[in-house]
Amino acid sequence: MRNQFRAGPTWAEVTPKAHFLNRRALISGAAAMSLAGPALAKISARPSALSTDAALNSLEDITSYNNYYEFGTGKEDPAAYAGALTTSPWTVKIDGMVEKPGDYALEDILGKVSLEERIYRFRCVEAWSMVVPWIGFQLSDLLARVGVQPGAKYVAFETLMRPEEMPGQQSGILEWPYREGLRLDEAMHPLTILATGLYGEALPNQNGAPIRLVVPWKYGFKSIKAIVRISLVDKQPPTTWNMINAPEYGFYSNVNPNVDHPRWSQASERPLGGGLFGGRQPTMMFNGYEDQVASLYAGQDLTVDF
Ligand code: MTE
Repeated sequence: MRNQFRAGPTWAEVTPKAHFLNRRALISGAAAMSLAGPALAKISARPSALSTDAALNSLEDITSYNNYYEFGTGKEDPAAYAGALTTSPWTVKIDGMVEKPGDYALEDILGKVSLEERIYRFRCVEAWSMVVPWIGFQLSDLLARVGVQPGAKYVAFETLMRPEEMPGQQSGILEWPYREGLRLDEAMHPLTILATGLYGEALPNQNGAPIRLVVPWKYGFKSIKAIVRISLVDKQPPTTWNMINAPEYGFYSNVNPNVDHPRWSQASERPLGGGLFGGRQPTMMFNGYEDQVASLYAGQDLTVDF
């Protein structure tokens, strides 16, 4: 099916030269900086027509300013502390309303799916944004392989619980493990991927290694990191930020410049690295993916059921 798509741009084609050079410098210094852990193996991935040709953020932007509360609440904490997380071996439990439930070794999953590079805009609910050359595969591919039973309506995700390696989990800042969820049609959408790499290499720990969700039309907190469990369920699952503060963080949390966060405007965003014009830029409906995803929400009042 993917063959019918026009091949999209690759990161090497769209990376501004300065960023590319910066990236090369970072890679050569990676061991010293333990930027991405020891495994910097090249990953081969096909380009995708679903990639944007927007200017990429540098590897440094993407890996040095992160949200990952398991390693602390500061933006620099994940880069400083996530390197200690053991990401191999890794097992993903797939359970609930599926034909083939089980504990799947990540390497077995990766042996079956076809990896693509997906260059996506990424918009955090805190109003910063970036453009990332993810490597991953469609969640729909995995779900088709395990067989979704007819009554399933939602997909629930859980992050690893390992307080000895994830010091943030020793605090009560969030209710652990971190949880997220999608409606089944959102999970099956071709834009929804499980990412295992970025910039042509294995996912850095601070970005959610070894496997994280990426849903580019939703605020970044929906894109859960270090996934160990995927459950097919018939009811809307509890999700971390929604449990903490439902009026501020809806279950859907689609990027929407017309619905402000109660404490700040969502009309514009700050691109990491300054962006093309160095300042703020307007936020786009569904983060620019309106043509592809608006139909999922036909008849849904996104100001109420956000
Ligand atoms: N997943 C887990 N397990 N823990 C987290 O704290 N933070 C979320 C999301 N996934 C988070 C998480 C938030 S708020 C954002 S904006 C993105 O991860 C940030 O992804 P990045 O660090 O790769 O930019």
